Amino acid sequence: VSPVDNRSYKTLPNALIYVGDDGLIKAINHIVGVPITTIHIEAILGEVGHCGEFEILHLARGEFLIPGFIDTHTHAPQFPNVGAGQQYELLKWLENVTFPMEAKFKNVDFARKAYTKIVKRIIDAGTTTCCYYGTLHLEATKELARIVHEYGQRAFIGKCNMDRESPSYYVERTDESVPHTEELIKYIRLLTPSKDGSLYVYPVLTPRFAIATTDELLKRIRVLVDSDPLLTIQTHISENPSEVRRTKELFKHLSKPEKPITYAGVYDHYHLLRNNTILAHAVYLEEEEWKLVKEKNCGISHCPTSNFNLTSGVAKVGDMLDRGVKVGLGTDVSGGFSPSILTAVRHASIAAKVVAIADLNSFAYRPLTVATLFWLATLGGAQVCNLERKAGSLEVGKSFDAIVVNIRNTSTPSPPPVSPHNLNLWGVGDDEDLGLDIRRRKDNNSIADGDAEVDIADENQLKEELDAMLERLLFCGDDRNLRRVYVQGRWIGGTEGRYDSTGVN
Ligand code: GUN
Ligand code: FE
Repeated sequence: VSPVDNRSYKTLPNALIYVGDDGLIKAINHIVGVPITTIHIEAILGEVGHCGEFEILHLARGEFLIPGFIDTHTHAPQFPNVGAGQQYELLKWLENVTFPMEAKFKNVDFARKAYTKIVKRIIDAGTTTCCYYGTLHLEATKELARIVHEYGQRAFIGKCNMDRESPSYYVERTDESVPHTEELIKYIRLLTPSKDGSLYVYPVLTPRFAIATTDELLKRIRVLVDSDPLLTIQTHISENPSEVRRTKELFKHLSKPEKPITYAGVYDHYHLLRNNTILAHAVYLEEEEWKLVKEKNCGISHCPTSNFNLTSGVAKVGDMLDRGVKVGLGTDVSGGFSPSILTAVRHASIAAKVVAIADLNSFAYRPLTVATLFWLATLGGAQVCNLERKAGSLEVGKSFDAIVVNIRNTSTPSPPPVSPHNLNLWGVGDDEDLGLDIRRRKDNNSIADGDAEVDIADENQLKEELDAMLERLLFCGDDRNLRRVYVQGRWIGGTEGRYDSTGVN
């Protein structure tokens, strides 16, 4: 099941996908009307000129393959804070909850231990490409990059630039911020390339947000930005009303008599808006700011879980789609309380529904369809990261960044340990056999055995079954439904092998 565009996806109920040793998809053969046999396998091997060893992964009924999720915005060092300080709005939350935790990452041992668990947790949530904010610390952020690279996740990794409006125990010196950033960029670009010669870990310039950076620092950052057009940039924009007010106050010297400065205007002044910029939130952008964002072809990371949780507001995700602005989803942990893009999908759906009116011709004021939600979680995110030629959908020529989804719960014989992050979601896995349940409802036949022979004659029925399973996954699946997670053809996470027959980790 793979997205096509922001209104549609395709389902191939009976197909063979061939992935080369370099992790790229070489062929996808869709077989209609008959079961897959060795003849089909030999045909696809012949088509791609394969000789030598190969391995077959067979998906059972109730299992399907989707592209990995793309998290366009998260904060690795905030994971220990998930579920803490949920009463605050942004600025108080930063001061009371976030900065004290991030400061602990000055200790590189602490950072290494924490990041090793955190990155694994994100991979097991199905995130194959992740845009990470680290802390302001150079060494700890190098560790984050090294760990992500070792796991084999595709990622953008940046250290925060922040030299003001931060506590004295957690703030940079203006003259150290850019040199440390340059050192991190160099470190990441020199990590060992993978088999196909490409690196999956990219540096990203991360000025935290306008409030936390002085004019002097932004001037130095501008020099770096101008000297490196390929460098991706990520920052926060227009998330919360108090933040927007404070930004305009701090940068009022950039106002012209006839034209007060805007939030996006501040970033534009320092050349931070370009086609490889990822802007998180964008809840309160004004009309002229949207024009700027569109003109510069910046991507938006829509972080609805965080926007709800920090009482920030409701971002108009449908309006962004109508404007043709690049948009994907972000978990924004720990402003958001879930590391899973599936949670962001649900909240994106709710965000759209709460502003919905009955206008069926626009995205803006109606619920988002399953196809649009699926696209936001995958291909939309890939566009935001300018990776749409590499990732975001299952297409010949792209990397095999994929998830084997299992909504039958046969690979976990008894309930796995319940994580505090998904206490209420066991319902999906608990249901004996969702795939067949859906089918039973449709044709009113009773199919007793989960391993019953697949009847592939009815292609349309199988497609409907996949549609239903995708919707179920998006609205009530969780980590336990993700059997395997692949990046560039390499199996790097998922539930398979995690639980023994007693269901104990
Ligand atoms: N703005 C500046 N820093 C942060 C952060 O850590 N999280 C969120 N959500 N917004 C921010
Ligand atoms: Fe954030």
